[in-house]
Amino acid sequence: MPEPTEPGRAETIEAVRCYWNERIHDLEIVRHPVGTPGFFEDLDAYRFEKLHYLPRLVDFSGFRGKTLLEVGCGAGIDLARFAAGGALCTGVDLSRTAVDLARQNLGQRGLSADLRVMNAEALEFPDGTFDVVYGHGVIQYTADARALIEEARRVLKPGGLFISMVYNRNGWLALMSKRFHVPLEHEDAPVLNKYTIREYRDLLSGFSKVDIVPERFPVRSKLHQKGLKAFLFNTVFVGAFNAVPRPLVRRYGWHLMGFAFK
Ligand SMILES: C[S@@+](CC[C@H](N)C(=O)[O-])C[C@H]1O[C@@H](n2cnc3c(N)ncnc32)[C@H](O)[C@@H]1O
Repeated sequence: MPEPTEPGRAETIEAVRCYWNERIHDLEIVRHPVGTPGFFEDLDAYRFEKLHYLPRLVDFSGFRGKTLLEVGCGAGIDLARFAAGGALCTGVDLSRTAVDLARQNLGQRGLSADLRVMNAEALEFPDGTFDVVYGHGVIQYTADARALIEEARRVLKPGGLFISMVYNRNGWLALMSKRFHVPLEHEDAPVLNKYTIREYRDLLSGFSKVDIVPERFPVRSKLHQKGLKAFLFNTVFVGAFNAVPRPLVRRYGWHLMGFAFK
């Protein structure tokens, strides 16, 4: 992947900011008005139904008293879970829309976090500030993935943990989208990268210990339920894929979860 030049990178960051200022991730499934308690409940329910692997791999209640930074926190759905679990939370996002929503979300739940509009490629925190840095679905949307990852490493304490997720270039959804022209979410974003397991490991090579776990296998789509394509996907494909023993298809998981220790 070519490294962006400084001016190119600044322009791309602004394009990424504009894009996410105008969009809310998963908005299409929400039934309640934006910013209401029902809105955040819809987002949480949809996310954890679709990503049922997430609480299995990430112990949201396991960081009580630890300092945790979420980069690209969006509407704060995961951050609220960390905060409810007792972590001392900070959340940053390039998008003002996202940070305002995260503030409403945590505020309505009586949870507290330091929430700021900030570029995760240039974090305004001293070295060694946090026990944990978390960034789910962010690295692939930023201008310079290496810069973001290096910043995550810099602000971690020695031995600190960076948890992240990127899309798998060899994942079932990437292959399906290529073969059947199924559009991916946010395909129109200024940046949307996918990585092989090897490329992701290389991005995380500055850490002392790295574990990569492919996850996010096909589940029936809530968004697409009408028409032949939806029928074939929801019944034939989802059923057949999930009938194969997981170890044989694990490497085709759409999400690559990275657990990297500084
Ligand atoms: C797909 S959304 C994911 C939001 C949230 N992490 C989630 O999983 O619901 C990507 C988010 O990353 C943010 N983002 C992208 N590049 C960023 C950067 N360099 N610094 C901070 N936030 C960034 C976007 O503004 C957007 O809110």
